[in-house]
Amino acid sequence: MLPRHVAIIMDGNGRWARQRQMPRIAGHRAGVENVREIVRFCAESGIEVLTLFAFSSENWRRPPNEIKLLLDLFVIAIEEEIERLHEAGVRLRIIGDDAPFPPKLKKCIAAAEARTANNTRLNLVIAANYGGRWDLTEAVRKLAQKIENNELSTSDISPELIAENLSLADLPEPDLFIRSGGEQRISNYLLWQLAYSELYFTDRLWPDFGTEDFETALHSYAARQRRFGMTGDQVSGKRDTVAGSQAE
Ligand code: IPE
Ligand code: IPE
Ligand code: MG
Repeated sequence: MLPRHVAIIMDGNGRWARQRQMPRIAGHRAGVENVREIVRFCAESGIEVLTLFAFSSENWRRPPNEIKLLLDLFVIAIEEEIERLHEAGVRLRIIGDDAPFPPKLKKCIAAAEARTANNTRLNLVIAANYGGRWDLTEAVRKLAQKIENNELSTSDISPELIAENLSLADLPEPDLFIRSGGEQRISNYLLWQLAYSELYFTDRLWPDFGTEDFETALHSYAARQRRFGMTGDQVSGKRDTVAGSQAE
């Protein structure tokens, strides 16, 4: 089975650059080149949603120079790629808190989202200044506001209502999570939405994570049994042993 939604933490750009005695930003540039390949692969293979973590709410802790270069690179990448993405039927969406972004980046994001709004082949979601805790906090704020306005009562709050108020409310939850770069952690990514995703970690640094690596991850995913709390036999449709013995 092909996952409908793949969510990736693109990690390892800095180490990739360091291995080559290059500045960290060269690693980020190589990372963007790789995004192009992976997006093309996803659009061709029939994956519906690809969510990429580009900048976390914690990445503001980096040196100001790296942050500035990353934000500049973001503008350049959107401007350079948007027509190609549009022609490939990709719908682009940015999630995260855009309040601290420079006006130029905000404008560029709005234009890119509007340009590709009617495309249906692949939903490409870029998480920028995103954090799972931020996302949940925003959802709580929205619900609390409704309660304050007497539009909602506390007993109406349910997992579904929370999910409806998160960034990716209209999209299926990630089936497969991939993290490159060797770390095995979530780093405040899609905390709620990853509840039942299959996790795949690889040591490959992001600029080197090619389409063959992506295919390896897809094969790993396809070989897994997703049980969602049930027994393996329930999922595979075999006769339940307890019920079976009762029937005999
Ligand atoms: C991921 O690569 C990209 C961003 C966080 C922007 P890193 O920059 O974290 O690369 P490493 O982890 O230092 O190798
Ligand atoms: C996670 O990578 C965020 C992105 C890839 C954008 P980090 O490199 O920032 O994660 P930590 O800090 O090592 O957990
Ligand atoms: Mg990192």
